[in-house]
Amino acid sequence: MRGREGSVYKSLKKTIIELIIFTDKQTEGEMYMACRRVTDCVYEVGAIDWNRRSFDELVPLHEGTSYNAYIIKGSEKTVLIDTVDPKMTGVLIDNLRSLGIGKLDFIVSNHAEQDHSGSIPDVLKLYPEAGVVTNAKCKAMLQDLLLIPEEKFMVVEDNQELSLGGKTLRFVFFPWVHWPETMLTYLIEDRILFSCDLFGSHVAESRLFATREDEVTIYEGALRYYAEIMYPFRDNIRNKFSKIEELEIRYIAPSHGPVYRNPEFITECYRQWTSPEVKNRAIIIYNSMHGSVEKMVSFLTVELERRNIPVKPFHLSVTDIGRLAMEITDASTVIVGCSQVLGGMHPSVAYALYFYNLLRPKTRFVSIIGSYGWGGKMVEQIQGMLSNVKAEIIPPVIAKGYPKTEDFQALTKLADTVLENHRKIGIIE
Ligand code: FEO
Repeated sequence: MRGREGSVYKSLKKTIIELIIFTDKQTEGEMYMACRRVTDCVYEVGAIDWNRRSFDELVPLHEGTSYNAYIIKGSEKTVLIDTVDPKMTGVLIDNLRSLGIGKLDFIVSNHAEQDHSGSIPDVLKLYPEAGVVTNAKCKAMLQDLLLIPEEKFMVVEDNQELSLGGKTLRFVFFPWVHWPETMLTYLIEDRILFSCDLFGSHVAESRLFATREDEVTIYEGALRYYAEIMYPFRDNIRNKFSKIEELEIRYIAPSHGPVYRNPEFITECYRQWTSPEVKNRAIIIYNSMHGSVEKMVSFLTVELERRNIPVKPFHLSVTDIGRLAMEITDASTVIVGCSQVLGGMHPSVAYALYFYNLLRPKTRFVSIIGSYGWGGKMVEQIQGMLSNVKAEIIPPVIAKGYPKTEDFQALTKLADTVLENHRKIGIIE
């Protein structure tokens, strides 16, 4: 190939490094099937969900996500590790056909949640000879969720190995990341850890491997994922982390986002994120109907900044709840700002606090600021929503109507107390 044609060819070849592109048209929105080669015997055959903009109908996604599934070919057996969200089953099946998988011996199910298990019934229809390999808890959940019959299962124990002929899988139980049945699968000879949700990122990316340049985007996507899904289980992850450190890992291949060719990048992120330590940071979660709370928030933000406490206010009418979860992961202080409406807290604050409380945050100090017109039980309601927040409560500052001199003085005192508390736990001098 010569001239312009040759250069176009070279450019295309460069773009699809590590991709095997099959050009059949897809059904339901996907342009091309793409099986991505991980190693000579391992292929990623899942689906990229470029347009997904909400996960769990809860947190916004800005970068889409993916549901990774992996084929491993041994000399005797072929295995599929996890599947895809049911809405993208067609992509997975087309990828399996394109890769020429005529016979499938096993489907390993690391996790029963439907974005990874939901296509198992359709894969079993295509490959009726295949067995589903998983642990006893996951088996029970797959039976409940997907009605997979008993005779399809092969139940494994922690650290059990399965030979594929020249390749060996080891199943590493890692419950509560983030469901009770979760496990990881380790391909011993290739040193690949298939970690399912653990270490995943909400990133849609045609390149299989994360590069150094991608790490900022992946950091964001992985933290967004961690904050919503894994954060409440951080102690469990930290306590079990030695199970991962014992493995010699070349690649971490999660079920969301790119494969980590530099596994230390994401394991180091998790070491930091799951640490019980908090940072010298304050978050203000608030809403303001007529500007009184807004004024108090602005004033307090400046007062905290003056004390060298980095602070971020989140107005709940415009905030991204996923971003809020990310920011909360390591903040030492959370201030709730609220307008009273109909005698109680503003519903937008109730929504955010409900989510915040579900996350079982490691926040060390909480306070409430707000404004009311008459009577009401806003403060009691807010405090009642924080049952999982094991934080010291700093006395609230509540203004009647627009804040006045004494309210600003109380906010100054609140900023002083936050500083004292941060000093007390050694996160600021
Ligand atoms: Fe990605 Fe727990 O599912």
